[in-house]
Amino acid sequence: MNNTVPALVAQYQQTGRIEGLPDRHLIAGNWTPSASGGIMESVDPGNGNAFHQFAAGDADDIERAVENSHAALSGEWSAASPAARGAILARAADLTRQEAARFAVAESLDSGKPLQEAEGDVAGAARCFEYYAGLPDKFEGRTIPLGPDYLAYTNWEPVGVTGHIIPWNYPISTLSRSIAPALAAGCTAVVKPAEQTPLTALMLGELLLRAGLPAGVVNVVAGTGIDAGAPLVSHPLVRHVSFTGSTTTGIEVIRAAARNVTSVLPELGGKSPLVVLADADMEAAADGIMGAIFENAGQICSAGSRLVVERRAHSGLMEALVARARALKLGHGLRRPDMGPVNSSAHLSKIAAMVDAARDRGLEIVTGGSVSTDPETEKGWFYQPTIIDNVPVDDPIAQEEIFGPVLAVQIADDAEEAISIANSTKYALVAGIYTRDFATAHRLAQRIDAGQVFINEYFAGGISVPFGGNRMSGFGREKGIDGMRTYLKLKSVAARIS
Ligand code: NAI
Ligand code: MG
Repeated sequence: MNNTVPALVAQYQQTGRIEGLPDRHLIAGNWTPSASGGIMESVDPGNGNAFHQFAAGDADDIERAVENSHAALSGEWSAASPAARGAILARAADLTRQEAARFAVAESLDSGKPLQEAEGDVAGAARCFEYYAGLPDKFEGRTIPLGPDYLAYTNWEPVGVTGHIIPWNYPISTLSRSIAPALAAGCTAVVKPAEQTPLTALMLGELLLRAGLPAGVVNVVAGTGIDAGAPLVSHPLVRHVSFTGSTTTGIEVIRAAARNVTSVLPELGGKSPLVVLADADMEAAADGIMGAIFENAGQICSAGSRLVVERRAHSGLMEALVARARALKLGHGLRRPDMGPVNSSAHLSKIAAMVDAARDRGLEIVTGGSVSTDPETEKGWFYQPTIIDNVPVDDPIAQEEIFGPVLAVQIADDAEEAISIANSTKYALVAGIYTRDFATAHRLAQRIDAGQVFINEYFAGGISVPFGGNRMSGFGREKGIDGMRTYLKLKSVAARIS
């Protein structure tokens, strides 16, 4: 098989499929069909065509996977030294880089995202494995002074079997940022990718085996949230659940896990503000806003979906943004467009309904505002890059997550009002701030409620910087050293030695 990007793209363009994609669950190190025989289709959002079929699991498959991951906790894996766990993760990083082309093409087809964005996600996944490869042998405990008659110390232990519920917008990114620290910590894992995007999770499970991970340490079961996700998060042998997705489903997951007193890290929705003050570098701000809301067609939990702009800068910035938004080229992901389709026809309808309702309320849609198609084929689930100006603070367009390429613009008289507008939703995931005034930037960073703040570069950071939400955006932190603590439980030991 020729696994270069051009060869894979040509294969898809000629045959409508890619050979050798995984089509069964990965359980106990083997490709395994669903116990029920159930299957689902992968559909290409760029043209609406089915291109692959895969096993759709249910509670029986989850049962086998969880039992197997539970058994794997006490085998070879528990005997592996922390350094050996790190070495496996380092090999996984190397293999991901070697096989990046195949991962990126599969990710682009499954999600619809432009190939260059999928390539970035795969590179990020490799970097994530590399980052956590360095941590297992550096997570030290403490000694606690109790005087000469005692010895007291702490130990970090793996939490046990972990469940990973993955969304369809950043499949390989979200999986790697939760699985890498779980494995670094010595946990085992059962992964349930989104039904729309199972491919890279199954591929990554198999790659980890080749990197040296013992069979069963990671099991991957594809299927819907109801059939496969719900039995996983309610399984009593699962001791931690990493969930990324909608706030509504997140609340259900927390409720299900609560029955077993299982911990959950919910990474949920957002309506993140991007504040631009009048003294900002407007070129940098315009670039930042374009990426914040139009990357992945706005299907980003941490999208900068509200521009909060100081009144003096409003008209100039709007002019620049409208020109840039109109210049974006839409197209099938494999053709490397500026913006690809959204992930499903159901999701497209939801975006369109939210914008149509805003139009009916009399809101000012300055560009976009309609569904669209790939100009080459007139197919696919596209939405035009859309900007809605002067959105009142309490309007649904300023309050609700749209999860599409729709920017709500809100005008503030000064920095104080910008803070109050920024804090005016139930969400608090991330925030962006553009200003040349260093002190003002940090004052805003202090007063805007968010798990992560970006100053003068939206999405600045990377795997080593902690990420997560407050309020309805969730709790707990992924990424960085803090992201590994989630997968460890602290034991303290106190001994009388006299
Ligand atoms: P979802 O939150 O229902 O799905 C995310 C993951 O959870 C998928 O793997 C799904 O199969 C699984 N899931 C669903 N129900 C479950 C349950 N009861 N127990 C365990 N797992 C379950 O999101 P969905 O339905 O794909 O999209 C709905 C809306 O959610 C989107 O239109 C978007 O607005 C938002 N969303 C937000 C995300 C974010 O990162 N903030 C990611 C995905 C969706
Ligand atoms: Mg759902």
